[in-house]
Amino acid sequence: MKKILSIFIVLIVLIAATGCVGVNGGQNTVNGVDKNTVQSNNDDKHRVLVAVFSATGNTRQIADSAAGILNADLYVIVPEDPYTEEDISYSTESRSYREQHDPAARPAIKGSGPNMDKYDTVLIGYPIWYDNAPRIISTFVESRDFDGKTVAAFCTSDSSGIEASAEYLHKLLPKSVTMLDSRRFPAGASEDDIRGWLKGIGLTGGE
Ligand SMILES: Cc1cc2nc3c(=O)[nH]c(=O)nc-3n(C[C@H](O)[C@H](O)[C@H](O)COP(=O)(O)O)c2cc1C
Repeated sequence: MKKILSIFIVLIVLIAATGCVGVNGGQNTVNGVDKNTVQSNNDDKHRVLVAVFSATGNTRQIADSAAGILNADLYVIVPEDPYTEEDISYSTESRSYREQHDPAARPAIKGSGPNMDKYDTVLIGYPIWYDNAPRIISTFVESRDFDGKTVAAFCTSDSSGIEASAEYLHKLLPKSVTMLDSRRFPAGASEDDIRGWLKGIGLTGGE
C-alpha cells in the first residue's frame, strides 16, 4: 500500500513539474522582455501569432493578454544587441533616436524566430518611438514571409496614435497582406479593452 502511495505521489509531482515548464516559457531580461522564444499555447486549429517588441514591459503586457484571450502563440522579439536605458533615453545622441531617424536602420533580432507557415493571422505589437514603430519591427516584418497573411498592429505610447506606424508597416509588408484595424493602448490597458479590439477585428479566441 505504502509503495502504491509513493508511486502516486511521484506521478503527481512529475505532472505538476511538466505543467510549470509549459506555462513559464521565458525569463525576464533587463529590457523587461522574454528570451527569444515562441511560447506555444496552440493546437492545430489555432493559427494566430502575437509578435511583440517591448523595451520596458508596457506593450508586452498587452501582448500577453491578447495571446491569453486568443489562446495564440506569443513571440517576443529580442534584439541581438539589447537596448540599455541610455539607448532609449530622450536624447539626440541616443541609439533609439539615431535608429528612428534613419529609415534604413534594421537592428538585428536574436534567434531564428517563429515558423510563419503555422499562422494565417499575425498581431504585431510595439511601443511608439518618435511617432513610429521601432526599427526592429521593420527588421521583423522584412525578414519573415507575410505573403497572404492577415495582420493587425497594436502599440502602447504616452499619447501618440498608431496611424503613422501602422501605415508605415503596411507599406513594408507585401501587397497580398490584409491589414485589420490597428489599435493604440495606454500602458496598463484593461483586458476588456483588449478583448473589445480583438472582437472588433473578428478574433475571439478558439479560431
Ligand atoms: C525612445 C522612445 C521614444 C518614444 N517616443 C514616443 C512618441 O513619439 N510618442 C509617444 O506617445 N510616446 C513615446 N514614447 C513612450 C513609449 O511609447 C511608451 O512609454 C510605451 O508604452 C513604452 O512601451 P514598452 O514598455 O513596451 O517599451 C517613447 C519612448 C521611448 C523610449
